[in-house]
Amino acid sequence: MVCYPVMRATFLAVTRNCWAVHSPFISTLLRHQRILVLRPSGARSAKTDRSYYITTPIFYVNASPHLGHLYSAVMADCFHRYKLLRGYKSKFATGTDEHGLKIQLAAEAAGKDPLTFCTDVSERFRHLFSSSNISFTDYIRTTEQRHHRAVKHFWSVLMNKGLIYKGSYEGWYSTQDESFLASSQVGDALDSSGKKIKVSLESGHELEWMREENYMFRLSMFRSPLLDWLRENPRAIQPDRFYQAVLQWLQDDLPDLSISRQRKRLQWGIPVPGDAEQTIYVWLDALVNYLTVAGYPDKHDQWWSVAHHIVGKDILKFHAIYWPCFLLGAGLPLPQTIHVHSHWTVGGKKMSKSVGNVVDPLECSRFFTTDGMRYFLLRQGVPDSDCDYTEDRAIKLLNAELADSLGGLLNRCTAPGLNPAQIYPSFCPESFPSQPGGRVKMEDYHMLDAVKHLPSVVEQHYKNMHVFKALEAIGTCVRQTNGFVQRHTPWKLDRRISKDQRWLDTIIHVSFECLRIYGTLLQPVVPEISDKLLSRLGVQPDERSWSHINFLPSYQGMDCPFEGRSLGFDSGVLFSRLEGQNVNQRTAKSKKLH
Ligand code: MSP
Repeated sequence: MVCYPVMRATFLAVTRNCWAVHSPFISTLLRHQRILVLRPSGARSAKTDRSYYITTPIFYVNASPHLGHLYSAVMADCFHRYKLLRGYKSKFATGTDEHGLKIQLAAEAAGKDPLTFCTDVSERFRHLFSSSNISFTDYIRTTEQRHHRAVKHFWSVLMNKGLIYKGSYEGWYSTQDESFLASSQVGDALDSSGKKIKVSLESGHELEWMREENYMFRLSMFRSPLLDWLRENPRAIQPDRFYQAVLQWLQDDLPDLSISRQRKRLQWGIPVPGDAEQTIYVWLDALVNYLTVAGYPDKHDQWWSVAHHIVGKDILKFHAIYWPCFLLGAGLPLPQTIHVHSHWTVGGKKMSKSVGNVVDPLECSRFFTTDGMRYFLLRQGVPDSDCDYTEDRAIKLLNAELADSLGGLLNRCTAPGLNPAQIYPSFCPESFPSQPGGRVKMEDYHMLDAVKHLPSVVEQHYKNMHVFKALEAIGTCVRQTNGFVQRHTPWKLDRRISKDQRWLDTIIHVSFECLRIYGTLLQPVVPEISDKLLSRLGVQPDERSWSHINFLPSYQGMDCPFEGRSLGFDSGVLFSRLEGQNVNQRTAKSKKLH
């Protein structure tokens, strides 16, 4: 059993030999740097700009993709689609992180040359994303030439500004996390043979003592500018608990950072410009991918000034400390927002290959459908805290919310029994007066009010990355609309009586208007289901953006463009109910069959 008692580990701080030699030069540089910090080049007013740039982390190719990876991508895809609906020009980047020691070791273990190995796994990620409707506009691989060029350029900028020096470094190193650790992050543990080892207190990964001469970045210079930026931008890191965590980390000094490794130990990476003996540290290399996609170093201004990152909480330090400091050093604008999410666990443990509890997202999607998978991840995933995955929970949620509630509502209102002409029927103002009266109940007015305000509620939640709250709000309204239909039992009305017919058409018209709003708002989360729903209602592709929402215009005496239109083709139930059957059993069965 592994245990992690906290222990005072020996940790040799960086030897800042160059720092000592050049200290008067550094104070001048610091003064100069402040100017760069305050006026990063190329900054534009993102507020007035209708461009948006969203990124996922780039994924390590040492193992196949799992559900946790898909979650980062689905989240980014949801924001990208939402921005397009709002009329933005949106760029969406994802891709793979292919350099570093652990990739080099994984390729060796697989008996493949590193590039072939990376290509194979990178394609698996690309395949997963394409089949999950992740509508990325750029798929970057760090082994591409355009990226090598960007990284080398970025390095040279930092070097020319005097922010990189050669130093010797000694300390506990985690190959899995590709990172040196401070003494406070190191603990004792026993390995499987009972031998005492050092581990990272955060990740539990084994550490080795490493001593080498390499290049250092003057990270320590940026603690104060970074704090200034954070204080001036309290929403730069969301949710707030992660912003607070970063502020807390910055209470301590920031030691300079080792940003290269000796080439003889790490060949699989970008060589340091002008020093063939050293390889650029994989995290510096990887973070620059965001700039590469933006067009760095030639024409990155348009996209770089509107960049937003999605990251898991395990890589917050790299994105909220190292990355802004590198950017400040290079005189570039900082990201607009770093959206942080928590982890998917299985049996309470973070899903990972080393723990052996990974869930295969492709297998799940085959069962839940692509949209079912997306809906479950975004409905159940809460950025603030970890979420445990169980197939049972997914089945219950999807059956209740997509099959029964939303699907049931559409099915009821489009059924030939209630809607023999298969049209978007008319709204009758006399049947549904603006003041309570006749057959209309108070709850009906409450429902109209809730649906009218739903787009702004959903907008607020999407903006704050609280997709689960947006879906909860939509789900509540769907239930209210079902209640409305149930309350008025339209199937008991007689179409031959004209008053009844007008009331029946009004009930269906109101329900269709509600469904149209739900379908429009759900597009970023479940694009296929939304398309099916809106197509069935006869809503054309160019009538599905946010600006077309305009709920129930007839109620306010305005024309409704949909009134009297034929319904679209009936392509079957919106979401078929799922039967509980263990995924593993299913996989075994389907393997037997083939
Ligand atoms: N390569 C780095 C990122 C470099 S970005 C410049 C990396 N890769 S990763 O493949 O390990 O992780 C990629 C993303 O997947 C991270 O945001 C990480 O948090 C996320 N997830 C990995 N496992 C996860 C879960 N079990 N649950 C949710 N997300 C998880 O880190």
